[in-house]
Amino acid sequence: MATAGRSSRLGLYHLLDPAVLADPYPLYRQLREEAPVLWDPYLHTWVVTRYQDVEQVLRSFKAARTPGPDRLAALGLERLTPVARMMVRQMLFLDQPAHGRVRRLASVAFTPRQVAKLRDDIAGITDGLLDGRPERDRIEIMSQLAEPLPAIVTARMLGVPTEHHQMLKAWSQDFAEMLGNFQHNPGRVDKVLASVEEMGAYFTDAVRRDALEPTDGLIHALASAEVDGDQLDEEDLVANIVVTMVGGQETTTNLIGNGLMTLLRHPGTLEALRSDPELLPSAVEELLRYESPSQHTARLAPAGAVLGGQEIPEDAAVMAVMGAANRDPERFADPDRLDLARQDNRHLAFGWAAHFCFGAPLARLEGQVVLGALAAKFKEITLDAEHLSWRPNLGLRGLTALPVKVTS
Ligand code: HEM
Repeated sequence: MATAGRSSRLGLYHLLDPAVLADPYPLYRQLREEAPVLWDPYLHTWVVTRYQDVEQVLRSFKAARTPGPDRLAALGLERLTPVARMMVRQMLFLDQPAHGRVRRLASVAFTPRQVAKLRDDIAGITDGLLDGRPERDRIEIMSQLAEPLPAIVTARMLGVPTEHHQMLKAWSQDFAEMLGNFQHNPGRVDKVLASVEEMGAYFTDAVRRDALEPTDGLIHALASAEVDGDQLDEEDLVANIVVTMVGGQETTTNLIGNGLMTLLRHPGTLEALRSDPELLPSAVEELLRYESPSQHTARLAPAGAVLGGQEIPEDAAVMAVMGAANRDPERFADPDRLDLARQDNRHLAFGWAAHFCFGAPLARLEGQVVLGALAAKFKEITLDAEHLSWRPNLGLRGLTALPVKVTS
């Protein structure tokens, strides 16, 4: 079992070790037990791992953490200004009242009815991908299902041509590498910048074309959303279409991959889903808790913040580790046990409070449809690899590949 080791300093940076990344839970336990509110000198941020503290950070700390042009210049990172310009308009990085305004308009556009309308689409796309698999008895789940499915669903949801799904996928992957990581990787900047420019141009064009010829999807719904005479302007629209597009892909890909991997590691669970499909909703919640696709997020401390008895200076960066909170024994009975029927499962995999995941109903639906289809279609699914490797993304937890053998 990989642990941070007592000789080395405790910190989240141990995730850079592939063995720790493969199984971060011993490190999380050590953090929760020995240093639940830790100053991480390597990351220059506070790291919070207990459920109660993570919930407090999500509920009451500041989300506006994107450095503005002045701060970027001071850090010598002026090149990132176009990325920051977009991020400062995205709901994920806004505080009240700006956040409430964008979120209200977005909620008018993306209603439960619209999500429910996507159910048949999701089932059809899943069947198409599974039935069209190149080999009868083998599937590489990540590239043949978990990656294309959310990209195609995202295209349908937005109302852009489904043939563009690979482009949406590539952009969201680039953006996600920046969001989820804290390794030094100067080569990534050029890719992210190019992606942001392309996405910006693509969605600006989509918004303008929609104004001339209305499409059926979230772009049109967001562009026409109005609350008390207030509407999003073009830059706000594009920024929030991008955050929705990115937010909906990497995470859902990893819900499918991590979810199936976890079921394969727990004999009898796929059979349980096959014989009792009503278990799917609680199973998906448990899989989200157990192997959370989004392991951590960041905030800035408000004035006078105290976490677990520790005073936190105003505007200090704080990382809230949902992946650790979701295994906190103070909140979840026997947290390292997978229980597909778990009750009282208020996990933090979708965040909490004002920024609670905007796409959670869609993500849940995708998870339930895909895992339900896998369980129903195949008599047996077994892992077809000795070792699994994890994407070197420390925040967005997901596999590089998940090869399986299937028996129809
Ligand atoms: C399993 C899949 C998903 C997971 C695990 C996930 C996780 C999260 C988390 C943890 C947050 C809060 C981040 C924070 O507070 O800093 C969040 C917010 C968000 N998510 Fe998701 N997400 C998923 C799917 C989706 C989908 C399908 C969409 C789009 C349809 C989406 C769009 C968003 C948006 C726009 C926000 C920002 C909400 C706000 O700031 O008010 N997500 N998501």
